[in-house]
Amino acid sequence: MAWTERLTLAEHAARAAGGLLRTRFGHRLDIRSKGLRSNLVTDADTASEDLIRATIAQRFPHDAVLGEEEGQRGSGSARWIIDPLDGTTNFAHGYPCFCVSIAFESDGEVVVGVVYDPMRDELFVAQRGEPARCNGGAMRVSKTAQLRDALLVTGFPPHDDNAVPNLAEFDAFMRRARALRRDGSAALDLCYVAGGRFDGFWEPDLHAWDVAAGALIVEQAGGTVSDYRGDALALEGRRIVASNGLIHSEMIDVLKGSQ
Ligand code: IPD
Ligand code: CA
Ligand code: CA
Repeated sequence: MAWTERLTLAEHAARAAGGLLRTRFGHRLDIRSKGLRSNLVTDADTASEDLIRATIAQRFPHDAVLGEEEGQRGSGSARWIIDPLDGTTNFAHGYPCFCVSIAFESDGEVVVGVVYDPMRDELFVAQRGEPARCNGGAMRVSKTAQLRDALLVTGFPPHDDNAVPNLAEFDAFMRRARALRRDGSAALDLCYVAGGRFDGFWEPDLHAWDVAAGALIVEQAGGTVSDYRGDALALEGRRIVASNGLIHSEMIDVLKGSQ
């Protein structure tokens, strides 16, 4: 089944929400912590989510929507999964690395994924069964065959001051890969793996809205996505590894060894 209408709507909503974020970027923001000190939310996050929800409701009023800021509304086999601003900490500090992530799931399977970076005007798009595209051009993962030649990216989830996750894994990859980066937007990290800018990505403690669109984009660009054991990714499984496929088993070995 083709999901062209949902895909077109997701592209439209992502561009509109991205435009809103671009307009507000660098201006005064209302910044709050939710739960943990390092977990930020701004008025731009909520305005972006409102805009995306309204855009979806106009065209597909019966679809359920899971959004990071408002949670799930509605139920049924058709569900949107949205992160209205992935990279809130960057956004709040004026670091221009953030995006909008919108996925559409049917019968439990993500079939459409769209990620939009408004600062670079890059629209990453995938539909299950078709090649992933960036601004219309086909995307392909890298050909790096060994971890020692790889550029990897990771992220550190909001955490308690006394329990910082991912440090052992970071240390282990630092010793084996060519270099590591930490950019602060999991959805963009995944798209950069899809486009071959990074060879691999891992992160603990992510949510469905962080990964739903980006994971599909990696797969449709020829990459591999799994949990830390190499098994199929569950959207709320929290731990994700994405790679060009060629270095995947080496990455899994490192993760198994550092737990
Ligand atoms: C965060 C970003 C970041 C990742 C965090 C996420 P948010 O999402 O994706 O890269 O390291 O784990 O929570 O809060 O900016 O939507
Ligand atoms: Ca996020
Ligand atoms: Ca967010």
